[in-house]
Amino acid sequence: MSAPTSIAAELRRLLDHAHAPYSGVHVAVAVQEPEGQLHFGVNVENAAYPQGWCAETSAIGAAVTAGAKALARVFVASNLADPIWPCGGCRQKILELAEPGCEVIALAPDGRAERRTIEELLPLGFRLESDTPRR
Ligand code: THU
Repeated sequence: MSAPTSIAAELRRLLDHAHAPYSGVHVAVAVQEPEGQLHFGVNVENAAYPQGWCAETSAIGAAVTAGAKALARVFVASNLADPIWPCGGCRQKILELAEPGCEVIALAPDGRAERRTIEELLPLGFRLESDTPRR
């Protein structure tokens, strides 16, 4: 599935809201719950560079704040010419809430869309259950 036009259009609009004065890379992300609810976020850079964070982090924060318990889809848009994939740390953050087979859909400005499952993007991601044996 490519992104529904309305999601892609909203992400394009939100790219203007990204705070990215240092890299110039504007990223907007939508995360979608299994029932369809959408939550959005943009990247927020900081003069103290490591304090900035990714658009995925913003969107996941918005989703959790709104009560989301699971994610079915993640849409990533940026102002770069080619589709971009979430960084390693954000793959791990997505995995935390991803339902099995959760799709990440990378959107290019020209409308191209590529998709991978979170399991493809992060094989062997770290999982910790309360019953994971400790020693
Ligand atoms: N960035 C994201 O927000 N999401 C990604 O998937 C990749 C990178 C941001 C972080 C930083 O603000 C800028 O893009 C350049 O790395």
